[in-house]
Amino acid sequence: MNTTATVSEEQLNDQFTYIDAVASLVRDKRLRAYTHTFGCQQNEADTEHIRGMLHEMGYEMTDDVNEADFILFNTCAVREHAEDRAFGNIGSLSHLKKRKPDVIIALCGCMAQQEKNVEKIKKSYPQVSLMFGTHALWRFPSLLYRVMSGEKRVFDIGGEDDIAEGLPILRADGAKAWLSIMYGCNNFCTYCIVPYVRGRERSRRPEEIENELRGLVASGYKEITLLGQNVNSYGKDLGIDVDFADLLRRLNAVPGDFWLRFMTSHPKDASPKLFDTMAACEKVARQLHLPFQSGSDEILRRMNRHYTADSYKKLIAYAREKMPDITLSSDIIVGFPGETEEDFEQTLRLVEDTRFDLLFTFLYSPRSGTPAASYPDNATTAQKQARFERLLRLQDGIVAERQAAYQGRRMRLLIDGAAKGPDYPFTARTEGNLLVCVRGKGLSVGEFVEAEIEKTTLRCLYARKL
Ligand code: 5AD
Ligand code: SF4
Repeated sequence: MNTTATVSEEQLNDQFTYIDAVASLVRDKRLRAYTHTFGCQQNEADTEHIRGMLHEMGYEMTDDVNEADFILFNTCAVREHAEDRAFGNIGSLSHLKKRKPDVIIALCGCMAQQEKNVEKIKKSYPQVSLMFGTHALWRFPSLLYRVMSGEKRVFDIGGEDDIAEGLPILRADGAKAWLSIMYGCNNFCTYCIVPYVRGRERSRRPEEIENELRGLVASGYKEITLLGQNVNSYGKDLGIDVDFADLLRRLNAVPGDFWLRFMTSHPKDASPKLFDTMAACEKVARQLHLPFQSGSDEILRRMNRHYTADSYKKLIAYAREKMPDITLSSDIIVGFPGETEEDFEQTLRLVEDTRFDLLFTFLYSPRSGTPAASYPDNATTAQKQARFERLLRLQDGIVAERQAAYQGRRMRLLIDGAAKGPDYPFTARTEGNLLVCVRGKGLSVGEFVEAEIEKTTLRCLYARKL
């Protein structure tokens, strides 16, 4: 059964009318817009849609908040630290608002889906005149129009789990693009706020995704990352016989020279079929981000993750058997409520055995409204911090060894930006998504080159174009 609804053409046309209406107010004024994104790639992709709408309205984009007439913060609620930073940023703009009363300050994203934050903004941050949640993103033109026509403060934090196709988009120039394939999450890991702020899983139709990919390839993008909170459950809501592996095969058949990446995968849904498909698809990069969160089965059970350390290791072994040079990364939470020294040792063991290329390690951050926020917790902050540092030390040793193994290797690289130092003036990525600094004649962003690795450090490989 198809459980996913799309925003109707009529509703979207309505928003395009508001884009025109705002454009008539912006016209000849040379107004500038500034956006700042916190959090994950999904948020970055959402901001690109807002920038697209602003661009259609006639705004010019600026990187300088002080010269902006419209300021937007797209916020993240995954950890307290991200929320604190967003509040800090908005707080520091109260002077700007006093100096330039006409400036419009807006806040959107995951924090805007939470009642407690909405109340806080209403009460203590009068400089914010527009706040809208992830579900209202497509209504941004009408909301902005209301503010511009004199409504003092506009809040839109409700909305349905619908998909809006065909919104304008303004992507960053360069080699890389995000491509959302689905939204929301049904997993309810007990520590995580995402299912509450991003709603239920809903997949875009395969033909819409393929069309967007064709457009990206035609525009010269060379690395396209398919986005979803749990891409492995892609298609379940569509009522047609298609899963993520099928989608990958379909996208792999799009003509052109490009790499396809995807994130994030969930170990409970990552299947041998997925790895067989990856191995068979030459455009799907040999790279996997597969968060395991904890090496302790008891903690995994209390996190509601539905796999064990052992089944995780078997998955990795299968992926490596099919793709021996695959690059692996993962997310880990340290200090989940009730985590004992023994639980933590099991996390260390999994890291030691698996030998990831890259780890994203997080200290557990209680999120009100999630089950884990009320679980009893015995470990002190100092104990958690000490565990965190042990994990970092272990991983640094593993990364040093893995990086050193690339010395002298010839690799295909995608040039993706300017580097800081003069000796290696460009940055690039390997197929496995490792960071490389490159030197050589005639390099330009968006080009694939063959190169040889000359030296390695913990964070970077250094290469010479061949
Ligand atoms: N505290 C710490 N880390 C968290 N993550 C999600 N929720 C929390 C939380 N409450 C981490 C997980 C996830 C990554 C995106 O963020 O590791 O995979
Ligand atoms: Fe959060 Fe778990 Fe969903 Fe990932 S899979 S977004 S960690 S609830």
